Amino acid sequence: MATKVIEEMTRPVFDVNVLRQDFPILTEEVYGKPFTYLDSAASAQKPRQVIEAISKVYSTEYSNVHRGVHYMSQKTTDAMEEAREKIRSFVNASSIREIIFVRGATEGINLVASSWGRRNLSAGDEIILTMLEHHSNIVPWQLMAEEVGASLKVVPIDRDGVLDIDTYSNLLSDKTKFVAVTHVSNALGTILPVTELIRLAHERGAKVLVDGCQAAPHMKIDVRSLDADFYVLSGHKIYGPSGIGILYGKEKLLEAMPPYQGGEEMIDVVTFDKTTYADLPFKFEAGTPHIAGAIGMGAAVNYITAVGLENIAAHENDLLKYGTNKLKGIDSLEIVGQAPEKAAILSFNLTGVHPHDVGTILDREGIAVRTGHHCAQPVMDYFDIASTVRASLGLYNNRSDIDALVAALERVKEIFG
Ligand code: ALA
Repeated sequence: MATKVIEEMTRPVFDVNVLRQDFPILTEEVYGKPFTYLDSAASAQKPRQVIEAISKVYSTEYSNVHRGVHYMSQKTTDAMEEAREKIRSFVNASSIREIIFVRGATEGINLVASSWGRRNLSAGDEIILTMLEHHSNIVPWQLMAEEVGASLKVVPIDRDGVLDIDTYSNLLSDKTKFVAVTHVSNALGTILPVTELIRLAHERGAKVLVDGCQAAPHMKIDVRSLDADFYVLSGHKIYGPSGIGILYGKEKLLEAMPPYQGGEEMIDVVTFDKTTYADLPFKFEAGTPHIAGAIGMGAAVNYITAVGLENIAAHENDLLKYGTNKLKGIDSLEIVGQAPEKAAILSFNLTGVHPHDVGTILDREGIAVRTGHHCAQPVMDYFDIASTVRASLGLYNNRSDIDALVAALERVKEIFG
């Protein structure tokens, strides 16, 4: 016992090579080469703790939830509600009533745009977005603005990918009813000053939704200290399953919003004359939920909490610096997005080589990156490019991954002369 305690005390707090062993897929080979995964911003790989939690649901505790009086239904319900509580604590919400399970951040944003928007927006109102938004935080607002006659205002960025706060302040007015803003840009990695953006919006009486998809894997989220009205995140970006995410909303706001979808789970009493609705959070959870997904997301939250978000952030920042310096050493490579406050995303282009060609050659070297517009076409338009190559880092990446990327990019340059 004493030896075990001493071993635990002396074990490094964060050892990437030990953590890598939690991710079975990282031992795979691609075209006979070691698999180098640099696409975590698209979707993070899963540790065995998450895989085992999902397997356990289907092997030992699966039934439908919130419906059965039988043992197995109770057991599954308890496991799912335990996951909700873990996620509540993870984002520091006040109550589980504020944690709505959704299919992912996209559904969370659509829910708010549709339900809050339809109830609170009218002709002449303004919704502020930033140029850094993912399509998922643009299109739902466009749809709602068109429906009610509201308009969108867009906060610009500079050549480093930093948001222009002065213009944001000037755009805020008594017409501003809503601000929808990303916490971290998926295309460039810029970390936005959301606390300040929220404070300024609240001074004007506007509500704010934060898209936390790219922030939650990299930094501690505290919805209360941010004072966010709504915050969305997806399970698959935080090392959990896909098809599940959460919408956090302040209880008072959620209470006042009409249901988004109708069906089972979200009802209290149904008659042909009138239906009354379930209490929060179930009012917004129509239909059988993604039960194993929710439990798997709870396991992912446990995993990254145990590893420690401060450790993850420190490790990724170190890698980001290392990778940035290495990429800067490559002739004809231009990094797109160099904000001083940046998460672990490296977007770049090689002069004269199409990003898809770069991606294809890297793939043959076993290296997975994303190429394209990254579902953020307005960012690409601003830089007057169609696409970039994006290497995005997770807690399991190490310097060897960056070295493999750099060596493969040199190979691309040789091929394209
Ligand atoms: N939003 C995801 C990305 O940035 C899919 O790649």
